[in-house]
Amino acid sequence: MKRLNLNLFTIMVLLTAAACKQAPKQEEMPSMPAFSIEKMPFGKVGENEITLYKLSNSSGFTVEIINYGAAIVSILAPDKNGEMGNVVLGFDSLSGYLQPGNPYFGCIAGRYANRIAKAQFTLDGATYKLAANNGPNTLHGGLKGFDKVVWNAMENASDSSASLTLTYLSPDGEEGYPGNLSAEVIYTITNDNALQIDYKATTDKATPINLTNHAYFNLAAGKTADILGHELMLTADNYTPVDATLIPTGKIESTKGGPMDFTSAKPIGKDLAQVSGGYDHNFILNKAGNDLSLAATLYEPTSGRMMEMLTTEPAVQFYSGNFLNGTLTNEDGKAIVKHYGLCLEAQHYPDSPNQANFPNTILKPGETYTQTTIYRFLTK
Ligand code: GLA
Repeated sequence: MKRLNLNLFTIMVLLTAAACKQAPKQEEMPSMPAFSIEKMPFGKVGENEITLYKLSNSSGFTVEIINYGAAIVSILAPDKNGEMGNVVLGFDSLSGYLQPGNPYFGCIAGRYANRIAKAQFTLDGATYKLAANNGPNTLHGGLKGFDKVVWNAMENASDSSASLTLTYLSPDGEEGYPGNLSAEVIYTITNDNALQIDYKATTDKATPINLTNHAYFNLAAGKTADILGHELMLTADNYTPVDATLIPTGKIESTKGGPMDFTSAKPIGKDLAQVSGGYDHNFILNKAGNDLSLAATLYEPTSGRMMEMLTTEPAVQFYSGNFLNGTLTNEDGKAIVKHYGLCLEAQHYPDSPNQANFPNTILKPGETYTQTTIYRFLTK
């Protein structure tokens, strides 16, 4: 079912500062609503209704999210001439998200985003077996990760933001992971054309956790052949080299001077040929603690669109869309070819549960996991 046919069902939630505080005087023009949230049916998964939530600010910056996989479906952001375009890859119907070949478009990946080697880990003396859904390894939470479950959703608009809170209770043993894990993801848009993602989780047994968003960005909104002309800067002097199955070897290597060096902005295509298979690596951010700090900037010269990424996480997986192969179709009807989108996934290092020298990813009962990442859209 196409979303465009569903406008009749649209429910508008409009909130204005004026409406909240006092009615406008007769001679005054009513001010533009600050934020709006529209809801529309997006199909069903079993008995569960899937809803698309459209969060907009008064300048038209819009983020669409569904409660299947807590996935971002689109982000409309202005180019240097004020023209709006969708800057992420997405499908126009639920069937796109349900198909087996969906490359994790816009979803929340979990419980453990990225890979765990040989699909197992040992914790407090017990060995936990996970699904080997990526060669010998587990990827993005297993066969039915957080990208393939239905989340509960609750929207909220105020005069300074619009947000969608998504919650999911992952039962003890789901996909082989221990503990009932209660996860919450809040997507918030603000007036500076930023999308903030706040994550929280608690558990009743010790368990690994690594949550991220898996949006594929294309700041040209599909007007260039691929993302190789996008200029990327990463605040990462180091990265984790990987083996042939994309598991970190355990070494920490400098990015400086080589193809992995994005410490000064450079086009993604510049050194890509020197990286076997393309970029799909964990870049370690230059920081000691978990403060919210600049991780990346991404600039697309033809549209003038720019994105700033800030995160509390210690690392970012930069993935240059190497496995996209033209078999899927984007919301705009175009074939999603290799390198048509890129991911900047705020995260802990891959395979941390098996690598004692990596920052801890084990959440214990009584603790609260938190993560905040902001993607802000600008032009220059
Ligand atoms: C991640 C991985 C990639 C690939 C994509 C999904 O970003 O690092 O290797 O598996 O997800 O296609």
